[in-house]
Amino acid sequence: MASGLTGEARHQISDPDESAGDDLPAGTTLCFGQYEILEYLNSGGFGITYLALDSLGRKVVIKECFPAAMCRRSGRQVSLRAAGYDLDFDRVVELFEREARALAQLEHPSIVGVHHIFKDNGTAYMALDFVEGLDLLRVLEETPRRLSAIEIRRITFLLLHALSYVHRNGILHRDISPDNILLGQDGNPVLIDFGAAREDATRASRILSRVQTVKDGYSPQEFYLASGSQEVPSDLYALAATIHHLITGAPPPNSTVRLSAVAENQADPYVPLEGRVSGYDQHFLRAIDRCLSVFSRDRLKSAEAWLDMIDETRRRKALAEKAKADQDLERTISQLIVQNRDVKPGCPGGDDRQRAEREAAEAAAAEAKRAAEREYWAILNEDCDLSDDYDFTEDYQPAEESGLTAVYEVEPPQRTASAAPEPDHAAHAPARPRPSRAKRRVSALVMLWGLMMVGPLDDWLASAQLDRVVASMQQTEGTH
Ligand SMILES: Nc1ncnc2c1ncn2[C@@H]1O[C@H](COP(=O)(O)OP(=O)(O)OP(=O)(O)O)[C@@H](O)[C@H]1O
Ligand SMILES: [Mg+2]
Repeated sequence: MASGLTGEARHQISDPDESAGDDLPAGTTLCFGQYEILEYLNSGGFGITYLALDSLGRKVVIKECFPAAMCRRSGRQVSLRAAGYDLDFDRVVELFEREARALAQLEHPSIVGVHHIFKDNGTAYMALDFVEGLDLLRVLEETPRRLSAIEIRRITFLLLHALSYVHRNGILHRDISPDNILLGQDGNPVLIDFGAAREDATRASRILSRVQTVKDGYSPQEFYLASGSQEVPSDLYALAATIHHLITGAPPPNSTVRLSAVAENQADPYVPLEGRVSGYDQHFLRAIDRCLSVFSRDRLKSAEAWLDMIDETRRRKALAEKAKADQDLERTISQLIVQNRDVKPGCPGGDDRQRAEREAAEAAAAEAKRAAEREYWAILNEDCDLSDDYDFTEDYQPAEESGLTAVYEVEPPQRTASAAPEPDHAAHAPARPRPSRAKRRVSALVMLWGLMMVGPLDDWLASAQLDRVVASMQQTEGTH
């Protein structure tokens, strides 16, 4: 896909002898003079960061998309290291822009603000709010004991709220570490340097696939696996490792070392904080230990769950809600027990009226069953010469000659009032052909066998079937 970069010559191929530094010098202007670079701050494998002034003289940070494995600087322009890199480069620029746009949607005091995305010099840039302060790595290196337990707790809470917000917006940070958290002058942390675009770029580009996007000590083991799924608990691991560093002065052991130990049935080299570190309540330390589990499934599932665990008020509220849910559950169960005390499985109801209705229905079904049995026995006991019945083409006889009416004279089955056919309907119904006697006897035999076999197994089902049988017989009767 073409990047559409500024309409200049598509991508320049650099001269290999040109080995000047890749960063743009101070005084360089970008985006038609809207920004002026003050100084170079840092460069990673995917970009270069500068401190700059905007057109109103305010400090901003400019990030330049500069995947060094595939490009270098030629004058101001970004040029490709080889002719075949253009498609990959375009893809990386596209991912950079896409992520910048996603970040620009976020508005949170603990997340760096992105306020401009633009193209220049053959690549893409984003302008970020400048945060006056130091990143946590420098804080740790320069003044290791600067942060008290209270401050570390406060920073943890603020970062968890920020992370919860990021995740709610469907974004993963993917590169949480002390150097990607700035500590502002107000002492509040700000998350910078989201790593999703870098991660996507290594997957999208063969050239970048070998560029490291993991940080030993902070990245969970799944980040080292090409097929490892990266999800919310992955960010929680990296945040827990960062807080671990703030508390103990060092990150936890590399997650791949831990994974190997566990895979070989050896002890996990990670020593839990709970019980060995003073100055923090055990819930706080336990949550970090939990989020530092080697396997994602053993970690807490969300920043909110982490907050629930360490925030006293939220913990009490969650417990109270759980207790209430338990009480409600108990009440519901006891009601169900009372309601179902006399109820057969599969039968609805439970109060007196329902019970009476059910008993009446069962009695009616039993009676209908007995009547049907009598009826089938009567058909079987009919005194007749079967010889004429063997001709199954003969089949139909007038109703008064033989058949059910005669059978009923022997012992008529009882019918329920609701199932009785309407006299008018019966009078006007067309006469239906009547099966031969032999057929009726065979059918009666089958029905009787069915009643005897099914009944004991499932009375309830049988009575329903019987109702239908009786109703259809009544229907037949009514038509004759
Ligand atoms: N908004 C900002 N305000 C102040 N300083 C910043 C800001 N963004 C970055 N910095 C400083 O620049 C350093 C490098 O920036 P950043 O972490 O964004 O990029 P990187 O890690 O060098 O590059 P890459 O994106 O390739 O990993 C940070 O550690 C921080 O000290
Ligand atoms: Mg960084």
